[in-house]
Amino acid sequence: MRRQPVKLAIVGGNRGASFVNALFSLSDRIHLTATCDLNEWVLNQWKDKFPEIRTYRDYHEMLKDSSIDAVFILSPMHLHARQSIDALKAGKHVLSEVIAIQSLEEAWELIETVEQSGMKYMMSENYCFSRSNLTVKHMAEQKLFGEITYLEGGYIHDLRHLIHYPDGSLT
Ligand SMILES: NC(=O)c1ccc[n+]([C@@H]2O[C@H](COP(=O)([O-])OP(=O)(O)OC[C@H]3O[C@@H](n4cnc5c(N)ncnc54)[C@H](O)[C@@H]3O)[C@@H](O)[C@H]2O)c1
Repeated sequence: MRRQPVKLAIVGGNRGASFVNALFSLSDRIHLTATCDLNEWVLNQWKDKFPEIRTYRDYHEMLKDSSIDAVFILSPMHLHARQSIDALKAGKHVLSEVIAIQSLEEAWELIETVEQSGMKYMMSENYCFSRSNLTVKHMAEQKLFGEITYLEGGYIHDLRHLIHYPDGSLT
């Protein structure tokens, strides 16, 4: 039986705009239903691309919308845990940007809420799914490194050009 598309809401429309192409290419599996942001200009940008969606400036108002199955949280990171917990309690599945939590207390509350609500939660660290990282994972699964007893990883992401112009001033 063919599954119904997930009715998704984007929370934090600025970073969320990075996923517009993915939303278009997965349109048979994901129906963008709503976008929530504090910034009216950001909401208008979404309305231009997806005229049929509902827009919200108040996150808790959006959680009352029973037509939404899942939320994708792309708001500033200090909000992720609380917005995730509130969404799970409202019966929505959650995909959250990094980072998931900022304290151990939030971590336990998030885990307990996932268990009690029975909803799905995933932290979407996109680099776990990049080609190079999946290649290394595949090599490990194929035992190319032998039996792994310990490993350390480093993540090199040179963002200097995003932050500084060549003369050193801030972008
Ligand atoms: N995995 C990656 O490669 C990657 C890359 C960039 C950003 N991120 C993550 O994306 C998240 C967002 O990035 P950012 O912090 O640079 O933000 P941003 O500036 O891209 O956008 C945050 C948006 O959230 C909105 N917002 C703020 N408070 C809100 C609220 N209470 N309800 C709804 N919307 C609200 C803002 O108006 C803004 O549009 C961060 O958690 C960051 O870690 C991940």
